[in-house]
Amino acid sequence: MIQKPKGTYDVYGKKSKQIKYIEKILNSLMEKYNYEYMRTPLFENSELFHRGVGETTDIVTKETYDFLDRGNRNMTLRPEGTAGICRSFVENKMYGTYTMPVKTWYYGPMYRYERPQSGRYREFYQFGCEVFGSDNASIDAELISIPVNIYKLLGLKGIKVNINSLGDRDSREKYREALIKHFEPHIHEFCEDCQERFKKNPLRILDCKIDCDKEIMKTAPTTIEYLNDTSKKHFDKVKESLEALDIDYVVNPKIVRGLDYYTHTVFEVEADIEKFGSQKVLCGGGRYNGLVEAIGGPKISGVGFALGLERLLNALEAEEIDLDENNGIDIYVAPMSEKEESYSLGLTQSLRLSGFNVEMDYMNRKLQNNFKQADKLNAKFIIILGEDEVNTNILTIKNNKTKEEFKVSTDDVIEFFDNNIEEEHHE
Ligand code: HAM
Repeated sequence: MIQKPKGTYDVYGKKSKQIKYIEKILNSLMEKYNYEYMRTPLFENSELFHRGVGETTDIVTKETYDFLDRGNRNMTLRPEGTAGICRSFVENKMYGTYTMPVKTWYYGPMYRYERPQSGRYREFYQFGCEVFGSDNASIDAELISIPVNIYKLLGLKGIKVNINSLGDRDSREKYREALIKHFEPHIHEFCEDCQERFKKNPLRILDCKIDCDKEIMKTAPTTIEYLNDTSKKHFDKVKESLEALDIDYVVNPKIVRGLDYYTHTVFEVEADIEKFGSQKVLCGGGRYNGLVEAIGGPKISGVGFALGLERLLNALEAEEIDLDENNGIDIYVAPMSEKEESYSLGLTQSLRLSGFNVEMDYMNRKLQNNFKQADKLNAKFIIILGEDEVNTNILTIKNNKTKEEFKVSTDDVIEFFDNNIEEEHHE
């Protein structure tokens, strides 16, 4: 039998319901925050990610799905969303036609050739936001508040917000020099990758999964010590804004993030749940003031985050939060025989288009089995359609809970359900 590729998964059953529930929350929250939905291609010219994510990052050096298309162009399946959104922002000259800040969101599959484990897939879904054109620290805080509020709305309790600042270009440069000085005498003891990172981007050494336990790693200088006044001021304002939003956070100088483009604020939200797996970073993001320029746009700042859907599902499971609230359907239509099927089909369609959740019997079930099926679907009402009903256009409707029966003319049927079914299910 042909099986799914390693590191991928199928969605059905309970997971399908949970995902749909989460997507609803994401959609409605983004309207409340006034963000615009954007969609960019699943594949882009490879160069975009080299420039956008960074030549020295693990994502680009080891994890991309690269291919030559039939026209011999180098293409890459997107490993993350920021680079594509920035490319689109520049290519479509959104900086010229929108008022600032431009606030966007996206949701979709990303691809990384990683070693699969719980919470780490080769195809995974990210929900993310990117905001362009504002240097205001309130935006950094707003962006941190979005995933925090999503987790809260879903009922998650064990989350921890870690923040740090890498500072502006000037601070980053000073920090880089300090790191070189710190690691230089010991770099020969490090792995091959780190030796390469030392030459190209020493900050990346701090992310190394092989050398992470070395003493010299633990004594490395932190970015915070090298922030200049402007960077410090920005970071202080971020903290103040988080306090105004009532968001608990921890300043964690170890957070440097695995992508090259960050400046100033970086943050991660992690699951603080006992026995949660190793992939506990639920969400990550930060400011990237040089990225739009690096991919050919004007000097416009950016800041954003992305959260992983699978890790969110794992966290919900760890806290035993069940989003699968089976509200059931509104109406179940049961034709008594094949003769009433066409009539059933028409009635079902018109009820659905009037806003009700409706199912009908397609299996020629006997009446008793139809009642069972209606119970299974948690139907509020059952319409039983026999010859009489079809001839007179007077429907027999049964309340599936109280078992009360009503005779309602087809002319009045919408009004009947409008009056008898709660508003929230037929908007
Ligand atoms: P990232 O930290 O690479 O950042 O990924 C963000 C989130 O995606 C992670 O916290 C995790 O939840 C999820 N994730 C990453 N890799 C995997 C995987 N292999 N399997 C399952 N989930 C995964 C970014 O991608 C940046 N673009 C975030 C950003 C947006 N920064 C600024 N704007």
